[in-house]
Amino acid sequence: MTGIICGTGSYAPSYVMDNNEIAAMVDTSDEWIKERTGVATRHIIKGETTVSMACEAARRALLDSGVRAEEVELIIVSTISSNVILPCTACEVQRELGAENATCFDMSAACSGFVLAYNTALAYLSGGIYRTVLIIGSESLSNLTNWKDRSTCILFGDGAGAAVMKAGEGRAYLPVTCSDGGKGKALTCLSRHTPVESAHMNDPEYYMQMDGQAVFKFAVKKVPEAVNEVLRKNHVSKEEITWYVLHQANSRIVESVAKRLEEPIEKFPMNLQEYGNTSSASIAILLDEMKRDGRLKNGQKIVIAGFGAGLTWGASVMEWG
Ligand code: COA
Repeated sequence: MTGIICGTGSYAPSYVMDNNEIAAMVDTSDEWIKERTGVATRHIIKGETTVSMACEAARRALLDSGVRAEEVELIIVSTISSNVILPCTACEVQRELGAENATCFDMSAACSGFVLAYNTALAYLSGGIYRTVLIIGSESLSNLTNWKDRSTCILFGDGAGAAVMKAGEGRAYLPVTCSDGGKGKALTCLSRHTPVESAHMNDPEYYMQMDGQAVFKFAVKKVPEAVNEVLRKNHVSKEEITWYVLHQANSRIVESVAKRLEEPIEKFPMNLQEYGNTSSASIAILLDEMKRDGRLKNGQKIVIAGFGAGLTWGASVMEWG
């Protein structure tokens, strides 16, 4: 028994902020941002919330899968930017969707969040505990962004992605998951609330702060290690993998991972040009785009890999459809 993704959905706010708009706020340029990160635009909330984006992505995933909200037995939302501390985002999503039979909880693992939500759903499904699970990554990172800090505000965006998973016959691949709390200071954010509502709105520590170079070096070393390990562990060869769907942080990170794995860059789809880094939503949004435009086909083997604050990282293999 395993868990199979049978529907995907995503949502991005309609407001698009390009690099020139950021260059009007801080000392940077479109050219610099594109060259160092690959990001050209990002979608930014204007009235949407982490819950509303999660709900829209989830509705689309349910529609795509043909599963009714009442059939969902577990909802996992991965987010670092919940609107409120209580109740959790997953319970709010349950209320809005009318998924009255679901058990709901949130996960906080930053940019590894979707991979860990997938693994958690897989464990519940393969273990026979649930048959239908909804996993969502939803982030309003613009609320946690210091718009005065040019080294971070260029990177992030808002959005949500969701997948419906069902129990089914097939192979349950083993994941690789890792954490190193000792290096947690490389990427921090002290606020749990919308900073504009916070008494600390002028304190940089209450926004995302990052040692960019340390995070870059960590990602380009640890992601290829995790991918190689997950393939080895599952006796899957690189030739069998059609797609490596990596967390969308920076095109230079993705390119470097491809090079270290000695795999063609064409196997590493990217949409960070449009969305920036949407943390736990990024992999789900990309999978949904690939499903809708026909790149994902039944039987393809895919690696998903996440990395980010914590530090946390990991990779999983899945068979599509
Ligand atoms: N525009 C123009 N100049 C900028 C800038 C910006 N937006 N941000 C930083 N700089 C400047 C720095 O001040 C520095 O200037 P100096 O040489 O005069 O001191 C110079 O550019 C180089 O800075 P550096 O930090 O070495 O740049 P970099 O090549 O490492 O690129 C990042 C910075 C943030 C783009 C890069 O480190 C990165 O992508 N890191 C990973 C970030 C990430 O993906 N995090 C999330 C993981 S989940």
